Order: sequence, then C-alpha cells, then structure tokens
Amino acid sequence: MKEITITTKIIVFNTLQELPFVVQDLMEKAITVRKKAYAPYSKFRVGAAILLDNGKIVLGSNQENAAYPSGLCAERIAIFQAGSIYPDAKILKMAITAASSTNQTNAPIPPCGSCRQSIAEYETRQETPIEIYFMGEIGEIFLSESLKNLLPFMFEKKLL
Ligand code: THU
Repeated sequence: MKEITITTKIIVFNTLQELPFVVQDLMEKAITVRKKAYAPYSKFRVGAAILLDNGKIVLGSNQENAAYPSGLCAERIAIFQAGSIYPDAKILKMAITAASSTNQTNAPIPPCGSCRQSIAEYETRQETPIEIYFMGEIGEIFLSESLKNLLPFMFEKKLL
C-alpha cells in the first residue's frame, strides 16, 4: 500500500491592476461579455474570454434553457467557439468572471468540473499549458498556470 499526495499551485492577485496588461484587457472583455449572459433561471452570469496565439480573442457567456440541462457554461461556449473557428490556433490564456444578481460574488469562481474536462482536451491536444485566470465580481483573481493544476487525475486520450 502506498499513498499519493497531490499538491497544486495557484497564484493570487489582489487587484486587476496587478495583472499583466494583456490579462487586464482579457478580464475586462470577460466582464463585458458576462453582462450579456442569458441567465434568467440562476441569475448567475458568467463571462469567459480566450486569447489565442494568433492574437484573436474569443468570448462566451452562459446560456441557460427552460430545460435546465440544455443550457451551457460560458467557458465551454468560448472554448468550443475557439475550437470551431480557429482549430489550428493554440489557446494561451482564459479569463473567467462570475456575478450573481442576488448576492455579490467576492470569491474567485473557478470553472466547473465539466468545463475543466473540456478545457483539458484542448490543453492535451495543443501540448502547451493554458493559463486560467478567474475571479468573482470583485476581489482576488486566481491564476492556475495550467489546467492540470485544477484537475489532477484528468481523463485524457492516452488513457483510452
Ligand atoms: N456556469 C458557468 O457558466 N460556468 C461554470 O463554470 C459554472 C456555472 C453557469 C451555468 C449556469 O448557467 C449558472 O452558471 C449557474 O450554475
């Protein structure tokens, strides 16, 4: 018998101004697209902005549905859009922000498990890490320098 202990690394920024300028810009775009979310059921709006190595920025906001499971998260809308339009580009960075109209989110909001799995596919495919920055409406910004830091034991194609 043996034990495996996994540690992870998150870098914490106190304010948007502490971020590199390119990331501030990406997060501001995520905030703008967050406000366009269609979230009449949860009132929880999420915005995601992706920077590609061709310089393009691809955005997504969560889109809900009266049949609840038919809706989709902002992160997957953004990453599937990036994969559809620019299949050969590498994803460098992703900025995520979430805000609720019922209470102010001041803790960093990470991507859900399904979004992590979806992001993992792209990181594995491109063989370079994706930086993921995430925040609430206000407060600290967390940086995971690779999707792997958010999803230990990720399920990937080499396991098939
Ligand atoms: N949501 C996202 O857009 N991203 C996540 O990573 C977590 C949750 C959305 C889905 C739903 O529209 C709302 O937030 C509440 O769960």
